[in-house]
Amino acid sequence: MKRSPQNKEDLKDLAAKLDEQRNIIDAIDADILQLIDRRLLAAQEIGRIKKRQHARVLDNQRELRIFQKLFGLSEHTRLSKTALYKIFSAIISASRVIQKPASEASADPREAEIYAVLGHPVAHSLSPVMHSAAFSATGYDGVYLAVNVPDIGVALSGLKALNFKGASITIPHKIAVMEFIDEIDAQAEKIQAVNTVKNNDGRLFGCNTDCFGAISALSEKTVIKDKEVTMLGAGGAARAIGFGIRAAGGRLTIVNRSPQKGSQLAGDLDADFRPLAEVNKLDCHILINATSVGMFPDNDHVPLPQKFLDKKMVVMDIVYNPLKTKLLKWAETIGCATVDGVSMFVHQGAKQFEFWTGRKAPVEIMKMTVLAALEERG
Ligand code: ATR
Repeated sequence: MKRSPQNKEDLKDLAAKLDEQRNIIDAIDADILQLIDRRLLAAQEIGRIKKRQHARVLDNQRELRIFQKLFGLSEHTRLSKTALYKIFSAIISASRVIQKPASEASADPREAEIYAVLGHPVAHSLSPVMHSAAFSATGYDGVYLAVNVPDIGVALSGLKALNFKGASITIPHKIAVMEFIDEIDAQAEKIQAVNTVKNNDGRLFGCNTDCFGAISALSEKTVIKDKEVTMLGAGGAARAIGFGIRAAGGRLTIVNRSPQKGSQLAGDLDADFRPLAEVNKLDCHILINATSVGMFPDNDHVPLPQKFLDKKMVVMDIVYNPLKTKLLKWAETIGCATVDGVSMFVHQGAKQFEFWTGRKAPVEIMKMTVLAALEERG
């Protein structure tokens, strides 16, 4: 049993120990400050050398490599990857400021290519922080905005008129947007939803990266081919994911609250449909929640009974706020492999970035940015 401090001597002893630790922290802070100053000095010197070589001072690939190295080193520390990312983003950006000549100023809004997420509502979207981080990490001269758009047709005319280079399309416009697009790729046509638009000199091209995002995220944890997949939900997100599962050779069963919508999607995807009441009779390797059940503020809700879960299952949730839904917590507790909504979100965003810019997406940086933003939002 813990002993509570009984007398004055005990209390004095504890106060001295506290002071000792505080002194250690103060000394370390002073050391950190000196180290940062040395780092800035080196950055400044690199800037000077490069200028003498007539080379471009800013090298975003180098920044990317620094993060990759640090993520590797962080395995041996108590620091989480997100905390590390936040700390070093600030240090690297201070180095950039000290190093950079005025001629290499970051994105001039008058020159930069403009992108936006179009949705209604859109205030909570994490696309702007994710894509802005990707632009800056790869040195792409772009800005990315969030625009609340009640009428997607009018918004797309505006997109052309203002010469925006592209857009992410989100709730509730992914289906309605299709009639305003000049060319839709075959997969998005089959899914019947578009979440990405590219403006090629006034001609709009649409595709769907949700499907790729979900399958990439899931494929990090399991093979899909010939697996029994149970997917909850029959909305737009479920449609894109279900299409990907079938294309990857998974055997799909759809479970949905309203049977009519569920069996219709099952028919379209050549899958089975089961009502929620029969969920316990299903053979299942991969379970996917493609509904909004469990999303903030309804964190306590779960889309199916706990007894359905088995430790051999891979459990995926498309909800990313909270990062660990109650369903994923249950799954982790019994030892299932899990795939969270941030993985899918980041992979679909990475595909958008590559489609727009033709550059390789800095996936890890995008993920860290999203995780840090989620952490900040609590
Ligand atoms: P999205 O395009 O994001 O997929 P959606 O088209 O509105 O959004 O689809 C939401 C899905 O979540 C639907 O399958 C919906 O079930 P219904 O078809 O019965 O409406 C499912 N869903 C939403 N809230 C739910 C709840 N409380 N319980 C069970 N299913 C729910």
